[in-house]
Amino acid sequence: MDKIGFIGAGNMASAIIGGMVARGTAAGNNIVVSDPNTDNVNRLIKQFGVQSVAGNNAVARESNTLVLAVKPQIMKQVCIELASDIRPETLVISIAAGIKCSMLQTWLGGNAVVVRCMPNTPALVQLGASGLYSEATISHSQQARAEEILSSVGIVSWVRDEALIDSITALSGSGPAYFFLFLEGMVEAGIKLGLDEKTSSQLAIQTAKGAATLAEQSQDSLAELRRKVTSPGGTTEKAIQAFEENDLKRIIAYAMQACAQKSRELADNNS
Ligand SMILES: NC(=O)c1ccc[n+]([C@@H]2O[C@H](COP(=O)([O-])OP(=O)(O)OC[C@H]3O[C@@H](n4cnc5c(N)ncnc54)[C@H](OP(=O)(O)O)[C@@H]3O)[C@@H](O)[C@H]2O)c1
Repeated sequence: MDKIGFIGAGNMASAIIGGMVARGTAAGNNIVVSDPNTDNVNRLIKQFGVQSVAGNNAVARESNTLVLAVKPQIMKQVCIELASDIRPETLVISIAAGIKCSMLQTWLGGNAVVVRCMPNTPALVQLGASGLYSEATISHSQQARAEEILSSVGIVSWVRDEALIDSITALSGSGPAYFFLFLEGMVEAGIKLGLDEKTSSQLAIQTAKGAATLAEQSQDSLAELRRKVTSPGGTTEKAIQAFEENDLKRIIAYAMQACAQKSRELADNNS
């Protein structure tokens, strides 16, 4: 059985490990982690029965697949220290924002097969959406392995051009924050309309969940689903008109372009 190593045992690593164990993608005793934060490591041992070894290098030596789950600002240092323990057959998956495959390969000493992943925080509840990219040297079985690991916490989508990871960042990577902002606005507006905070919050969140589930399960397009709520001359039409007068779609496009641009800048600064 393949050993899967995690460098970093924080939020995202915990989410992925939890998803893998829940789905049976890997048993806890086939997962090995390393993190100087012993609280995080002990939590994973207790919750999922993972193994802990002393130091990142030992994890790399023991693992066929290595997930790099540390913050982007320490990734270079972590990779350089790991380079001597990366074997040509080791699959390395990085979930760090703004670090290109070419940089990871250079820091890891040039012989790693690297998958770059942009996950999102709903991975914490196994409803994530991850974008994946790898250079052509990846084998089918390594590609399947990466997909299996990230599928444990939600859906995955491969892109053929690494630049599209910036677009994925603008869509699903940062996307949860857009919905949280929209929900904050709805809750606050509900309170202004006389509802108490708890009621406003519960109804707004349930409405978002229901709308997303309906959009996922229905054969109708998003526009058609919207039309079905919007009777001519009715209440919803008034709200939609107000959004359109304020050019909501232009604001969304502008925000996502700004996000993608920042993602490109981060990647360029790390090159
Ligand atoms: N698209 C998204 O929404 C998204 C969301 C989350 C994460 N990410 C990416 O996922 C990565 C991890 O994020 P996270 O939220 O899981 O961060 P996190 O909770 O801070 O976890 C990182 C862990 O790495 C540990 N660490 C620090 N130095 C280390 C070292 N030298 N070797 C091994 N472990 C070390 C940290 O310990 P300390 O606590 O002691 O520092 C911490 O436990 C980041 O690169 C981030 O860009 C993307």
